[in-house]
Amino acid sequence: MKAWAARDRRAIWHPYTQMHTADPPLVIARGEGAYLIAEDGRRYLDGISSWWTNLHGHAHPAIAARIAAQAAALEHVIFAGCTHAPAIELAERLLAILPKNQARIFYSDDGSTAVETALKMALQYWAQRGDARGEARGEARRRFVALRGAYHGDTFGAMSVSDRGAFARPFEDLLFETAFIELPSGARLGQARADLERELAKGGVAAFIFEPLLQGAAGFRTYPAAALDELIALARRHGALAIADEVLTGFGRTGKLFAADHLREAPDIVCMSKGLTGGAMALGATSCTNEIFEAFLSEDRRRAFLHGHSYSGNPIACAAALASLDLLLAAECRERIAMIARSHAEFARRARGHARVREARSLGTALALELELHAAGDESYFAEIGPRLARFYLERGILLRPLGNVAYTLPPYCVTEAELHRIYDVIEESLERV
Ligand SMILES: Cc1ncc(COP(=O)(O)O)c(C=O)c1O
Repeated sequence: MKAWAARDRRAIWHPYTQMHTADPPLVIARGEGAYLIAEDGRRYLDGISSWWTNLHGHAHPAIAARIAAQAAALEHVIFAGCTHAPAIELAERLLAILPKNQARIFYSDDGSTAVETALKMALQYWAQRGDARGEARGEARRRFVALRGAYHGDTFGAMSVSDRGAFARPFEDLLFETAFIELPSGARLGQARADLERELAKGGVAAFIFEPLLQGAAGFRTYPAAALDELIALARRHGALAIADEVLTGFGRTGKLFAADHLREAPDIVCMSKGLTGGAMALGATSCTNEIFEAFLSEDRRRAFLHGHSYSGNPIACAAALASLDLLLAAECRERIAMIARSHAEFARRARGHARVREARSLGTALALELELHAAGDESYFAEIGPRLARFYLERGILLRPLGNVAYTLPPYCVTEAELHRIYDVIEESLERV
């Protein structure tokens, strides 16, 4: 065993990893464009943008230079009572591209904390605003509605609004209650609408939270914008807020800058992370409308949003995000996103004919093949085929991490058409051989 791998085994506890049975981890020494380069010199095409974060390729020189310059000028400062140009500029630029009703940016650390921020913002908003629709006290709005299959992160609030699957099971008794409604895909829209109506009629719903158009962790499941529009409009008629968790879908992943750009109904709160910094630094951001922001304004300091983190608004992370936005908004990047979306859609069409493929779906730069399973009860995240597929892909120089029986790719935007076809070919080969 290589020295680093042995030292890793003695010192590290990896996320989402059964440490007793997992293969030794790849020791990655460098990144270069769409590739990760291992310590032994092997190159791996990063087909999952290293957990859905990377947009423009690894160790991008423009992002690296901006980070270096910022680190040499100001690495961090408390974000209560102090501010700085990178955070201000980033907030202004995000508000310029978010849905028009978004008016303020609140910074946090990652996707989960961006969601926690959104949940607490919504609850305190209702507590302080009162409910203009006639509920005597705003405190009555303390419930959330979420979609079946939802995944919003691993902190307790985010887990509470996530579906009660395997990830949440050990903590289930400690999670606050959330109402889950059907995912409004295809024929299930009617059920979703009925579920939501029932929950709204019970009263007390603070917000409806959703991953717009694409549920990542649930296996890259997609559902139509028109259906989501209908649900948001329904929630709104009952006075509930709409929270769009764009942690995965933001920054071009669905083909538009935000998944909300496919919608007619603008969300009240938007959660961002992952691609926000181009995948270079951890950073979360939660935007909201002016109406929400104003509910926290008071002569009373107790009515402030008493929430934040040591690294809120970290200047180096904000600088990375600014560099990433420059790259993202360039015409060339839009063309690359369109090329990936076209290629994915074409491959999904072809894959649909394969006997082992139960469903092939693509949305923007995300592509997923849900495989038929032979063994009954072998479904979902722990399907035994997942790790075998991952090993097969790695042996062929491609980093993919199937979600159980769902093989998917979400490549960085710098990937070439030829590289995409390498990924498709290896996935196709795996259908025959794994
Ligand atoms: C939609 C969504 N929300 C929230 C999160 C949590 O983000 P993080 O892992 O950065 O805490 C994820 C992570 O995959 C996600 O996909």
